[in-house]
Amino acid sequence: MSVAGEAGLSPDAIATRVRELGDWFHNLDLAGVKTAPHHFLGDYPTCKWQRFAHALPPSLQGKTVLDVGCNAGFYALQMKERGAARVVAIDEDEGYLAQARFAAQVHGADIEFHQMSVYDVAQLGERFDLVIFMGVLYHLRHPLLALDLLSEHVVGDLFLFQSMLRGSAALEPIATDYPFQEVAHFDSSAYPKLHFVEHRYAKDPTNWWIPNKSCVEAMLRSAGFSISCNPEQEVYLCRVDASARSRRGPDSIRAADLRGLRA
Ligand SMILES: C[S@@+](CC[C@H](N)C(=O)[O-])C[C@H]1O[C@@H](n2cnc3c(N)ncnc32)[C@H](O)[C@@H]1O
Repeated sequence: MSVAGEAGLSPDAIATRVRELGDWFHNLDLAGVKTAPHHFLGDYPTCKWQRFAHALPPSLQGKTVLDVGCNAGFYALQMKERGAARVVAIDEDEGYLAQARFAAQVHGADIEFHQMSVYDVAQLGERFDLVIFMGVLYHLRHPLLALDLLSEHVVGDLFLFQSMLRGSAALEPIATDYPFQEVAHFDSSAYPKLHFVEHRYAKDPTNWWIPNKSCVEAMLRSAGFSISCNPEQEVYLCRVDASARSRRGPDSIRAADLRGLRA
């Protein structure tokens, strides 16, 4: 019997466990066993990662990383491969975390997993050199709150972000104020727009808010991030910008405010 993977499991044992762990969103290669070979987006997320991997530092030696909404851990595993000293990965879905724990075991990757919502990141009590927040924003009922919390509590330096985008990709300068009688700019396709999904989009009832390009960029800035680059259509690498954070008004949400929200 051939033995595969750091965990010393046979390919048959890996394939059996992959099936037991349910439907996978990440197509990982677990010692030759593919976890989602028929993914509707192709070899996902490898095909996406290949389009922006160059934007991140090639070495993460000595760096700490937090992957928020890690799913089966594709990005957490990539960060370990780049030498990150410590990788913490959170997701609110225990099923996906079980997949991620198994994938990390097969890869022999030392990753710390927690079942945790993005709304609770303040509980980690730590800032990370790199925070990854890919593909989660549009699944949230309170997307700007999530960005505010990440900026205020856990992003120490770099912020890798991705959102599904819909609507116009046009960008135009936006004035910092308009007179009350001025309404035309709201009809411009380049004005920031967040599309609300009351029921479902792509059969998925967890899709809530889908921004256009100018909206996602404005939301990032408003939450205290400065955009360093946009290496792929939907992907942004940002830096936390403490001065932008401090310009925000009394609406800025503190962890204490959340107790009522989540009750
Ligand atoms: C579309 S997947 C993206 C997975 C991965 N980050 C990527 O880019 O491939 C969305 C993930 O976000 C997780 N998620 C949704 N709401 C969350 C929340 N409030 N807190 C943490 N994770 C959440 C889901 O369980 C799922 O694993």
